[in-house]
Amino acid sequence: MTLWSGGRFEEGPSEELWRFTVDTSDRRMLVDDIDGSIAHATMLGGVGLLTPDEAAAMLETLGAIRDEAVAGRFVFIETDEDVHSAVERRLGEAIGELAGKLHTGRSRNDQVALDLRLYLKRSARSRIDQLSAFIRVLIDVTESVGDAVVPSYTHLQQAQAIPLAHHLLAYAWMIKRDIERFSDVMARIDVSPLGAGASGGSSLPLDVEASAELLGMTAIFDNSMDAVGSRDVAAEYVWCATQAMLHLSRLSEELLLWSTSEFGWATFSDAYTTGSSAMPHKKNVDIAELVRGRSAAVIGDLTSIAALQKGLPMTYNRDLQEDKRIVFHADDTLAGSLEALGGMLSTAEFHTPPPSDWVTALDLAEALVGRGVPFRVAHLLVGGLVTELIARGESFHDLTEQQLTEFDGRFEGADLAVFDVGASVAARSTHRGGSMESVEAQIRDLEAFLTLG
Ligand code: ARG
Repeated sequence: MTLWSGGRFEEGPSEELWRFTVDTSDRRMLVDDIDGSIAHATMLGGVGLLTPDEAAAMLETLGAIRDEAVAGRFVFIETDEDVHSAVERRLGEAIGELAGKLHTGRSRNDQVALDLRLYLKRSARSRIDQLSAFIRVLIDVTESVGDAVVPSYTHLQQAQAIPLAHHLLAYAWMIKRDIERFSDVMARIDVSPLGAGASGGSSLPLDVEASAELLGMTAIFDNSMDAVGSRDVAAEYVWCATQAMLHLSRLSEELLLWSTSEFGWATFSDAYTTGSSAMPHKKNVDIAELVRGRSAAVIGDLTSIAALQKGLPMTYNRDLQEDKRIVFHADDTLAGSLEALGGMLSTAEFHTPPPSDWVTALDLAEALVGRGVPFRVAHLLVGGLVTELIARGESFHDLTEQQLTEFDGRFEGADLAVFDVGASVAARSTHRGGSMESVEAQIRDLEAFLTLG
């Protein structure tokens, strides 16, 4: 039995219509839907649209249905068109005709908009918790690598000597912004659309402030048509998930690169790697590959939720039912990726080889600059020296004091000291650059952020 059969409809729905239009993915909003109904029924009682007895009976039963839902005992049946119909059907089984009063002053249009917002509020909180836990893992791994020095890369060419910890922490800051993005969108999620009705509100004395307050929502809609017809907040949520996935995908790519025998920087525990059915020697980092691979479909979700809104006339259109699959897919992919990649990362062991000598080239140029040589000249001199050494099949460490000073009188014997990558990192003094002082300060700030959050 649908919520609309009888009345204008002489015939029941065809199988084709049912198969095509019913989407059971909204069942995960069951508790949200019941919470919305509890708030709505309480409000109806408050304004006299339900008698105190009716309100009490309805609320008691809704509470029991909520318990069923939480315990996983709520049974959906074939004829439930959506989660809203299922709850009303269940209420009817328990209290008969009185259940018909629940939908007073409400439409599935404001109901579904509310359910989605309640779901997003819950899931934003758990994504924020997961992202915070991921930062924790990054900090722990960072601490475990100590002061190991690696090259930074630009254009995937070795650039400067930096602490590996500094590289890992770069991701912690990206993830921190992902958390902030989810928190920022929360203010726009936390707006109750209840009372907007089908699109234009109602002639009944609904108290929209009361139902919003009962739901613990911080604001109410400003325009009933906007409340039921807009999905920009869902799109923003998908964007938050997409950007977080993109960060995880970049990290995954690096972890994969670092675990190759060519790099040989990192290994992960057996429990988080897979074997090859054909090649006995292999250990594959599939989790990272799947995070990178699945981020593609989340980018697709972002396109889908944008395209879904394009050209939709006001207000609710059934197209909007599709928003949920998109949001759930993006959200589930992020949740699963954080869990798996976080687990894998926590088992990482780093054994980085020393960077090539060339990563100290800029340090040598800066030694000249310190003695008043214009940077452009210093760049030319060091570049010339590098060219000569490469031609001789040598590098900085092969240079003697005499060779260096004979190459150009502006070099000094003491400059040989800059070729040590540890010294290069130790000399790094600018704001949040690649030095261990910077790493320590970053960890302090990130930990303060996690404590405050
Ligand atoms: N299942 C629908 C959705 O997810 C619920 C709202 C249906 N409203 C309607 N007027 N048919 O969007």
